[in-house]
Amino acid sequence: MDKHKLNIDTSQNILDNNSKLKTQNSKILDIQNLNTGYGKKQVLFDVSLQVEKGKTILLVGANGSGKSSLLKAIFGIIPLWSGEVWFKGQTLHNAEQKLKTQQSKLITKGIMYLPQKDELFEDMSVKENLETSILHLPDKKEQKQNLAHIWEQMPVLKDKKDQLANRLSGGERKMISLGMALLNKPKLLLFDEPFAGLSEKNMDMLMQSLEKIQQNGTTLVIIEHRIKKLLNFANRVIGLKLGRLHTDNLETLDNIKKFLI
Ligand SMILES: Nc1ncnc2c1ncn2[C@@H]1O[C@H](COP(=O)(O)OP(=O)(O)OP(=O)(O)O)[C@@H](O)[C@H]1O
Ligand SMILES: [Mg+2]
Repeated sequence: MDKHKLNIDTSQNILDNNSKLKTQNSKILDIQNLNTGYGKKQVLFDVSLQVEKGKTILLVGANGSGKSSLLKAIFGIIPLWSGEVWFKGQTLHNAEQKLKTQQSKLITKGIMYLPQKDELFEDMSVKENLETSILHLPDKKEQKQNLAHIWEQMPVLKDKKDQLANRLSGGERKMISLGMALLNKPKLLLFDEPFAGLSEKNMDMLMQSLEKIQQNGTTLVIIEHRIKKLLNFANRVIGLKLGRLHTDNLETLDNIKKFLI
């Protein structure tokens, strides 16, 4: 009798899990009722967000509204107080079971995070910086192929491959960071203020790379204050105000401006 009950329970569980997986699979990223903060200070309140595979999301909000904190929570840099983060139908982080996926594992799963400030090895060349992202690959041929692909995608880096990172412009440094991220073949790229501090020319150069990444089917979540630049590029604009997510009426520049006031 007990055994029979156990069988029924198990098959029901499998059914439940399968249907959960099915709905989760249509979204690459699924954030459910996320609350978090620093110390005792709460900065994100009940944030829920679903991102479809291959889409580009532009995340806007005033200074201090919690944008960077949201990306940090997705990438496991800050722990959740409550809620869950799912990626391709699997839980990455939750609060209840104290699950927190390590960053190296997140990268293997296909998630890359580029913080507001780049983190390059200053006294290493462009090529050496890029190589730090492929050294873990056991196959030397694969290492070479991946690097060749980056030279092809980002010719500006190829032209400067022997220059030290600390001799490069802000835009070129951003391109190296992006190149390093791409070497890990991300399916989801979280990019915090790609255009911060860049000249118009460098922004255009970076934009061209982002367009290629988008065309390759990578899902992008981008935080930017340069909204005009990205409005047509993004499939969806979402906003954060005082740590709460707003998803409606953010299709036009005028509405976004009103939201930001
Ligand atoms: N390490 C930290 N320790 C304590 N509080 C922090 C920390 N980082 C951020 N905060 C606070 O959390 C809130 C949200 O900050 P966050 O950096 O997420 O904002 P943001 O929307 O990215 O702002 P910006 O547009 O200026 O980059 C702010 O009140 C900020 O002061
Ligand atoms: Mg920020």
